Amino acid sequence: MSVRRLAPKEVQPASFAFTEENLAFAKQQIAKYPAGRQASAVIAILWRAQEQHDGWVSEAAIRVIADMLDMPYIRVLEVATFYTMFQLAPVGKKAHVQVCGTTPCRLRGAEDLIHVCEHRIHHEPFHLSKDGNFSWEEVECLGACVNAPMVLIGKDTYEDLTKESFGKVLDGFASGNPPKPGPQNGRQFSAPSTGPTTLKEIT
Ligand code: FES
Repeated sequence: MSVRRLAPKEVQPASFAFTEENLAFAKQQIAKYPAGRQASAVIAILWRAQEQHDGWVSEAAIRVIADMLDMPYIRVLEVATFYTMFQLAPVGKKAHVQVCGTTPCRLRGAEDLIHVCEHRIHHEPFHLSKDGNFSWEEVECLGACVNAPMVLIGKDTYEDLTKESFGKVLDGFASGNPPKPGPQNGRQFSAPSTGPTTLKEIT
């Protein structure tokens, strides 16, 4: 895993405040836990902060969340830097693509998907495309190895990809019509790619 740091000061907003709706969500999360255990809500609240702030978590948001949960700033920073689901710098407006580069996906063509990212988005990870709409990074196993190779975009996984079908996924995000998440080769979930092999007949 790469070293994950906060974005430089130049891109950090001076402050962060939850919208009324998201503040209510945060209070709801905190209320799920016994008094003194409010830190358990940190991941859910960080995720909501990321959604509110164009897909990335700022230093100001980390401080606000730490104060809200009565946690030292460093503890919230540790959580935000540990999990690759949290972005710490500006990402593409339409999609930030996380390409799984762990062995099963590598063996099934992840390298091709990385080449697509390098050519269509930017030759280096964590850089915005020219139009600012896309960014990408390589991450470790995302738990969908059975449908390798795959990528995660936002909350959704796109699986059983080839460079062609991945290109179509990116086209969909670019036009504002992302395809249905899941396998992109027509198979149902993780059923055999050649079709059902058992329970085919009603007896
Ligand atoms: S190795 Fe890619 S999802 Fe597990």
